[in-house]
Amino acid sequence: MANRVASLKSIVSHAKKYGYVFPSSEIYDGLSAVYDYGQNGVALKDNIKRYWWKAMVQLNENIEGLDAAIFMHPTTWQASGHVDAFSDPLIDNRDTQKRYRADGLIEDYIAELDRKIQGACSRAAKRFGSDFDMALYERTNPRVKEYIEQRDKARRKMVDALERDDLEALTKLIADLGIADPVSGSKNWTDVRRFNLMFGTQLAASPDSSADLYLRPETAQGVFVNFLNVQKTARQKLPFGIAQVGKAFRNEITARQFIFRMREFEQMELQYFVRPGDGLKHYEAWKEKRMRWHLSLGLGQENYRFRDHDKLAHYADAASDIEFRFPFGFKELEGIHSRTDFDLRNHEKYANKKLQFFDPLRKAHYLPHVVETSVGLDRLFLAVFSIALQEETLADGSMRTVLRLPPILAPTQAAILPLVKKDGLPEIARALFGDLKYDFNVRLDDKDAIGRRYRRQDAAGTPYCITIDHDTRQDQSATLRNRDTMQQARMPLTQIAAFLDARISMKAHLKKL
Ligand code: GAP
Repeated sequence: MANRVASLKSIVSHAKKYGYVFPSSEIYDGLSAVYDYGQNGVALKDNIKRYWWKAMVQLNENIEGLDAAIFMHPTTWQASGHVDAFSDPLIDNRDTQKRYRADGLIEDYIAELDRKIQGACSRAAKRFGSDFDMALYERTNPRVKEYIEQRDKARRKMVDALERDDLEALTKLIADLGIADPVSGSKNWTDVRRFNLMFGTQLAASPDSSADLYLRPETAQGVFVNFLNVQKTARQKLPFGIAQVGKAFRNEITARQFIFRMREFEQMELQYFVRPGDGLKHYEAWKEKRMRWHLSLGLGQENYRFRDHDKLAHYADAASDIEFRFPFGFKELEGIHSRTDFDLRNHEKYANKKLQFFDPLRKAHYLPHVVETSVGLDRLFLAVFSIALQEETLADGSMRTVLRLPPILAPTQAAILPLVKKDGLPEIARALFGDLKYDFNVRLDDKDAIGRRYRRQDAAGTPYCITIDHDTRQDQSATLRNRDTMQQARMPLTQIAAFLDARISMKAHLKKL
């Protein structure tokens, strides 16, 4: 029986133990919300990137790639609105000097009420058995009713204050709800104020000639400023897209939940340029295409949902998130936005340069509208990893930890295990490794007893183990063990490459998109 490992704690520790993710600068006690990817992590990340890139760029004649610099001219961020508006509501606790997102504290308060409601309901469900009517209980039990009212009122007030950008109302709400510092219990809060999330730095060493720069908070702006460069040199017509994978930086006030919210992270973005008036049509099409791409990874349809935005950002006329069921609940994995011509129009204005597209059919110049899809690579990594990590109770009652990564994403696609370190078996293993290594990520593993090696490869996420035993010398065959079923089958060495290719190559997955 397979169980999802629900706790984030076990995911963090497994990711470290198996060389996926390490805390950054760990020997100095780490750096908050910054992580390093180890030998397996970098390979998993690279495979995710490749799968995304192939689906976006390689499969679409009208999508081009780009790798823009992280540093951009500082005016970029005025034009994009980030200097004025890319901020979160911040509150400090005067006693502990700890900083929090004001809305984060209120959301935690709401989540605590949710937990109380769920706790009361599940206790009642046990008491009443199969006759239990949860909706009726929520409507009639006085304590549960009160919790629900408190929760909904707090949420309403928070949303209202955020929509009006009323920082005083947020300060008052935190005081009225009696919210305390989660670490110390102190209620000695400052007023809520705005905190810009961009990291600043300087271009030159000398303060006289220095210019204030920002580390980009999104990759998108590199695409907008290069829109005409790519369009003209690639001779693209509308609609066409520019795809990019790259680092982004945000000085998140409270970065929690492992690699879900980081200060340095990677985005995989597409900006799709379309004719004015066609934005919403392409927006709907991209919502559907992106969901199909996610589902093709086989992590389970029930773990995804769309959440359309009620309140739109100033630049968007439609926006939706693809949410994923992370170990801490459904949260945003990817954002899909119809951004109108907001960005190109502002860059035209601030740079005083024409960024219009010449449409040869309409014989007219105009600014295209943009549909954007933006997924966090690290978040996607966490989604894949958290679903894949499972504890199983085997038929003999023993436990097995298995990382059921989609085979196309697994860092090691097959481990080659000589049964013993003698009798010519290591030589056969090495020869097979030499044959397979050009097409597959394969590893040799000859340490420990074979059973322990299987367990180690299961936990590391390796979908296939190839065991070289004494019979191999006679029959030129090996045993292939499947990570998920643990079933073993004998196969001629010459057929292994074709077997792996049929199960591991991205081609079959891409063809189904
Ligand atoms: N260009 C649009 C844009 O940046 P966003 O919703 O702010 O939109 C897009 O970010 C995606 O980037 C999110 O859906 C999320 O997956 C990822 N992301 C954003 N902030 C992040 C953070 N601090 N750590 C990790 N991933 C993040």
